[in-house]
Formats: sequence, C-alpha cells, structure tokens
Amino acid sequence: SYNSRITGVGSYVPPQIYKNSDIEEMMDTSNEWIIQRTGIEQRHWVDENTSTSDLALEASKIAIKDAGLEASDIDMIVFATLSPDHDFPGTGCFLQAKLGIEDVTAFDIRQQCTGFLYGLSMADKFVQSGSHKNVLVVGAEVHSKGLDKTPNGRAVSVLFGDGAGAVVVSRTEVKDKTKDPHIMTTNLHADGSYAKELWVAAPGSAVGPDRMSHALVDEGLHFPFMNGKTVFVHAVKRMAETLMLSCKEMGVGIEDVDLFLFHQANLRINSKVAEVLKIPEDKIFNTIQKYGNTTAATIPLGMHDAIKANKLKKGMLVASAAFGSGFTWASGLWRY
Ligand code: ACO
Repeated sequence: SYNSRITGVGSYVPPQIYKNSDIEEMMDTSNEWIIQRTGIEQRHWVDENTSTSDLALEASKIAIKDAGLEASDIDMIVFATLSPDHDFPGTGCFLQAKLGIEDVTAFDIRQQCTGFLYGLSMADKFVQSGSHKNVLVVGAEVHSKGLDKTPNGRAVSVLFGDGAGAVVVSRTEVKDKTKDPHIMTTNLHADGSYAKELWVAAPGSAVGPDRMSHALVDEGLHFPFMNGKTVFVHAVKRMAETLMLSCKEMGVGIEDVDLFLFHQANLRINSKVAEVLKIPEDKIFNTIQKYGNTTAATIPLGMHDAIKANKLKKGMLVASAAFGSGFTWASGLWRY
C-alpha cells in the first residue's frame, strides 16, 4: 500500500475584524467575560457577499501552490463544513467549479469541529488505497450569517468566527516510518446519543410537515443551540483519550511530540487537556484569541499560522485532536 503526507498548507480569513467591544454593542456581554471564559479577543466575520466556498477558494489556492501543484493536479476534494454555501449540493462541488477543475472526486464531511480530522483521515485512506494521488482537504466556515446576534444569542454567538484552512495530501514514499514525513495514524469517533447537546434543529426532515417554516424561524430553531458545560467536560475527556490512543498506537510518547494542534473551542479546554496529559503549554499552538472558534477550519488555520510563525517546521512530529457536535471527536499524528 501507499503512504500520504501533507505537502501544502494554506488559510484565509475575511478582512473584517470584530473585537469583543463590537460584540458588546450587539448583546449583553463583556470583553472580560469572553476573554476569561474562552480566551477569545476578536473574530473575523465576512461581508454579505462572501460565502464559505469563497473563503475556501483563497485557502485552497495557497495550499495548492505550497504543494508545488496546479489545481488540475488535484484528484479529490474533501470539504468539511457545517455552514455550506447551500443545503445541497455539497460545497466541495462549488469549490471545484471555482478552482476550475474538471473531473474530480468531491464530497462534503458533516462532522463540525471534528470535520477537518475526519477529512484528513479520508484523504490519507484514499491515497493509501492507491486510487488518488493529490487530495485537497478543506475546512471552511461562515458562521457569522447563522448566529443569533440579538441579545438572546450571547451564549453561542460570541464564540464563533469565519475562516478557512486547506491542506494538500499527496502520495509519498516512506522508507523510515519514524523519520520520513507522512500521516502516521488517525482515529475517528462519534457518540450520537449526545447529538442534541450541540446542534441546529432546523431546517430538517424531523421538524414537522415542512423542513423550514416561519414558525420554526420564529422559535429560533435555525440558530445553533449548545449545552456548553456538557460539551466542555466531554471535550476534555475525549480529546485526551483519543490523543493517547493515537500516540500508543504508534509507540510515541507525549514528550516525543513537537507540536500539538488542537481544535480551538475554548482556551480553557486546551489547558485542561494539557494538564491531564502533562503537555508543556508552549507546545500547544492556539489561535482562538484571534479567530474565535472556526469549527472545521481551526486546525488547518492553526497549521498555516504555526508555519508562518516558524513554530511548525518540516520534519516535526505533530499531534492533533478535536471535539465537537455529534458528539464527534478525533485525533491524528503526522510527521510534517
Ligand atoms: N456574556 C456574558 N455572560 C454570559 C455569556 C456571554 N456571552 N454567555 C453566558 N453568560 C452567563 C450565563 O448566563 C451564566 O450566568 P448565570 O451564572 O447568572 O446563570 C454565566 O455566564 C456562566 O455561564 P456558563 O454557560 O455556565 O459558562 P461556562 O463557564 O460554562 O462557559 C462556554 C460557557 C464558554 C460556552 C463553555 O461552556 C464552553 O466553552 N463550552 C464548550 C464549547 C465547545 O467546546 N464547543 C464545541 C465546539 S462547537 C461545534 O462543534 C459546533
């Protein structure tokens, strides 16, 4: 069988920044509360003409160039998002058209904050099978257009930002499994018994005679609902658990890992995971302060920022973990 590695990384955030003080003007919240509870200082939100695939396009162009490829070299697009351009078709198809790629495998992943690692795993497995050579994996979100920005929305709306990250996963030859850059393992999990702890109820076929109606909108069922405390507790437990699983599987100790790229939902979640696993804080690369939670985009966005900050260098061993709605959670280990 074949191996895969990450050959290109890119990201993009829309230019408009909303500081916590801007959010204070929309709802009853405070800069102090948001920073203390989450670590978030600001987020980027799109203008009215920008969609998820627009952000993805910019991130993808950078990743493809970084891989030394042309868009036409991509033979599969895996698009992770919970904020698609439209209900259907998948946003991967819209991105394909914007990239001008003719015949390609394209599909979307609906695993929310865990979406990027699910996508990376799909890419790795398709490349391993020999069927595909250069897979574009994208995590991109426009949350701002789906948030309740009235005073009722403060519990959720202060948390989320817009952005996109992309990587190219390509076939590679691995001679030395400990030293050569490649994706070593991914572990994917879900527990649907917690599906309604963090979800958007409508539109949907389970909500009544119509998928969407004025009544559903009046009730606010199209806005995300989250039981924050439950999510928090499970996130810490599951991220630590799956990280250990990936490390054990590869015979890697926590101390062997050069950089930890965690999902960015809350600075306190990542500190707790660090505490549980005895990870030195300076090995964790956090970006939530600048971007808020961009769900599927957080990990590739962080990866690109870490490269630009010279914190992630070729040859480093990277461990990644995420937790989100579903519940879903995942981890991965790769040498960059
Ligand atoms: N501003 C000011 N006060 C607020 C705000 C706000 N934005 N939101 C809530 N409060 C108030 C509450 O009303 C409550 O007041 P009370 O004590 O008078 O009742 C108080 O602050 C504490 O609220 P909690 O919800 O208990 O605060 P908590 O410390 O749990 O923090 C948070 C909330 C930040 C949401 C946290 O629970 C969290 O980060 N949870 C995990 C989020 C996560 O991981 N999501 C997964 C990814 S998202 C995805 O997959 C789509």
